Amino acid sequence: MLKPETRAVHGSTCRDTAFNSVIMPLYPSSTFAFERIGVHKGFDYTRSGNPTRRALEETIAGLEGGSACVCTGTGMAAVAGVLHLLKPGDHVITGHDIYGGCYRLMHDVFAKYGIHFTFLDMTDLSCVEDALTDSTALIWIETPSNPLLRIVDVQAVTTLARSRGILTALDNTFMSPYFQQPFDLGVDIIVHSTTKYINGHSDVVVGAIVTKDLQWDERVAFITNACGLTESPWDAWLVLRGIRSLPQRMRTHAAVAQEVANYLNQHPKVLRTHYPGLPEHPQHELAKKQMSGFGGMVTFELEANQAQLDIFFGKLQLFSLAESLGGVESLIEAPWYMSHVSMSEEARATAGIKPGTIRVSVGLEHADDLIQDIENGLAAL
Ligand SMILES: Cc1ncc(COP(=O)(O)O)c(C=O)c1O
Repeated sequence: MLKPETRAVHGSTCRDTAFNSVIMPLYPSSTFAFERIGVHKGFDYTRSGNPTRRALEETIAGLEGGSACVCTGTGMAAVAGVLHLLKPGDHVITGHDIYGGCYRLMHDVFAKYGIHFTFLDMTDLSCVEDALTDSTALIWIETPSNPLLRIVDVQAVTTLARSRGILTALDNTFMSPYFQQPFDLGVDIIVHSTTKYINGHSDVVVGAIVTKDLQWDERVAFITNACGLTESPWDAWLVLRGIRSLPQRMRTHAAVAQEVANYLNQHPKVLRTHYPGLPEHPQHELAKKQMSGFGGMVTFELEANQAQLDIFFGKLQLFSLAESLGGVESLIEAPWYMSHVSMSEEARATAGIKPGTIRVSVGLEHADDLIQDIENGLAAL
């Protein structure tokens, strides 16, 4: 079997039989001519399928070990695509500390269509077990969670779900297929905001749903086409460019993030540092077991109000104060005020997010420079 480095590169090459282009061509065509009624060259209309997008879908499916992938217009479109598999009356269990946009889509949109959601501490299997009902149809896992990087025991949750015939879906955005292989841990459906590490260059907002069972392959293809959730070929072409360097980027993100986390962890002004690669992380051993790297996200806590955070952020020169993550450049943000503001104050507090919580997406810069930048910011407090 080819290694991830090889699959990431070769997913986007050697496909053009017209001119032997080395790189996958961009086919922006919205429609494809039939040779005669019922006969075409594999594509009829770009909402249902497109050759450029197909190259990306096959590359992502290959990296995840899936049998099919549908690339979607945003990461949220991928999440919505999976939730559309449900029907009124179904019950969903998920973490209380998932990405705020996923929480909003579940709590404020799909709940209105008669789907019931229980948000709980997914790190505690007994909580998951206690919440199961006869109508539980889906367990939605996000691990590491956003922003506190808690680790869910994926194998334990999928074993429980399988014993009850419950579908499981995992948002693998934070780890990417390079550091976490959810199908090996028993998950049925994988979702990505490919906006993040898979693209890696902060120049497109896109997503993906990966499946490995004919039933779900077909159902997801149907839903995403019927609802019009699929990705533009232009965006797919950009992601194909980004995905080629995914393994190398992930290794560097993780190495630099570990150094940043080590520095924050010993700083007297930092109350707490959350990074699965720190031995003090409560699920460090579980992280080592189910992930092959600890990723590029680091979260830490300061005793700071909004004005003090502004002073800290204002001193930083290398970190942009911005939402999103997974790009080559480092970003920093305050989830209480920014990425998770779509959750109520109560929901944020239950999730463990505080006004002084700071989330860092560590880019590919040198660790020494990033640490010096943070040091300058902390010195101003
Ligand atoms: C874990 C996670 N899932 C899903 C999404 C949604 O993706 P998008 O912004 O591409 O719609 C995000 C966005 O930040 C995310 O962090």
